Amino acid sequence: MTEEYKVKDVKLADEGRLLIEWASRHMPVLNQIKERFTRERPLEGLRIGACLHVTKETAVLIDALRAGGAEVSLCGSNPLSTQDEVAAAIAEWGVHVYAWRGETTGEYYWCVNRVIDHRPVITLDDGADLVTTIHLKRREVLDGVKGGTEETTTGVIRLRAMSRRGELKYPIIAVNDAYTKYLFDNRYGTGQSTLDGIIRATNILLAGKRFVVCGYGWCGRGLARRAKGMGANVIVTEVNPIRALEAVMDGFTVMTLDEAAEVGDIFVTVTGNISVIRKEHMLKMKDGAIIANSGHFNVEINLPDLKEISRSKRTIRPNLEEYTLEDGRRIYLLAEGRLVNLAAAEGHPSEVMDMSFSNQALCVEYIAKNPKMSPGVYTVPKDIDELVARLKLMGMGVKIDELTEEQKRYLTSWEAGTV
Ligand SMILES: NC(=O)c1ccc[n+]([C@@H]2O[C@H](COP(=O)([O-])OP(=O)(O)OC[C@H]3O[C@@H](n4cnc5c(N)ncnc54)[C@H](O)[C@@H]3O)[C@@H](O)[C@H]2O)c1
Repeated sequence: MTEEYKVKDVKLADEGRLLIEWASRHMPVLNQIKERFTRERPLEGLRIGACLHVTKETAVLIDALRAGGAEVSLCGSNPLSTQDEVAAAIAEWGVHVYAWRGETTGEYYWCVNRVIDHRPVITLDDGADLVTTIHLKRREVLDGVKGGTEETTTGVIRLRAMSRRGELKYPIIAVNDAYTKYLFDNRYGTGQSTLDGIIRATNILLAGKRFVVCGYGWCGRGLARRAKGMGANVIVTEVNPIRALEAVMDGFTVMTLDEAAEVGDIFVTVTGNISVIRKEHMLKMKDGAIIANSGHFNVEINLPDLKEISRSKRTIRPNLEEYTLEDGRRIYLLAEGRLVNLAAAEGHPSEVMDMSFSNQALCVEYIAKNPKMSPGVYTVPKDIDELVARLKLMGMGVKIDELTEEQKRYLTSWEAGTV
């Protein structure tokens, strides 16, 4: 029989409850959804299996889903991102939670499999490990799954690849691709929390440093802007000419990683790609260079390469490891190359997760009400995206104008031109 839950220490629950309360204060949109869910119970009896970073904000989402009547089981979506106090508090609610900080890869997949044991009808994923494990190893539960959601860019890329090959067996809504997700979560959330993680791990001064951002996507744009705001000289590396051009015109120096390796002080990958920082780059880095990753998986920095060229390694402080190369130069790796904002800090601020997780909650409700969707990757319905933006503005006390009847007519006609 599957264990009810497995967390580091359930006695941490009091601390966890305070953290969740603090997050909830800053998540007004999700709280409004929870209130409606409590009245309408749109998820009554629905089994939801979630693979999400187990943070205080995720707890607020789980709470809203339960208020809607769902039975939730939860595992972490990264071995280093679980906040053990929060996991303990969630376990006390009676949620089947399997997560602790510092899981081995084997333990990580053990936890994913325990969630699958609860035979989810809807899956919530961040990176697509839950969905891919179901498709690769646990096909016996596939028939019972009606749909799912995906939180991040990397997960959406994997799911689209599955869908193109006809291998995705149920519908999944790409929450990542909602405007009210990536424009804020990826940009402002990753931007701020990545710096937070780097600072907590190192306490170095960013002003005056050469800060290399690998990848100028939504996360990279936010990170570059924020690092500049802290006084760093930001260098961007890209493979996409349009994004590279955008970075140039946004005022950043763009060069190849080969060139940047020689001059950079801090390097952060946010590409969603593999082996971005490799041996040939590390061998050119200055003594004391700091490398970190904020992309989804710990494959953006080639860790086997780093180990191969190093003669020794020691831990300086939590989330900060010093690798000494054969010639005595030292490279500092943050958070084992896992997403630095979640492993060395607390992930995105609650205000941002308010929007991402409101999209999650409303998409779960949408799937529950539309159980006949065919397999594939779907965008978030426009109504949901706009509702989240409206509620967020309302929560911030910001009013906006409305189109007049004349303006509506004008915008849907073609006859009127130069006057
Ligand atoms: N840390 C977090 O909390 C967090 C939050 C959101 C997204 N993510 C993850 O961050 C990653 C990036 O997400 P995004 O939304 O910015 O994606 P994106 O697709 O908008 O941007 C990725 C950029 O990286 C560039 N790129 C790819 N390979 C490269 C290489 N070898 N060198 C330089 N640039 C390269 C691409 O051209 C693209 O412009 C994904 O893995 C995503 O899942 C992390």
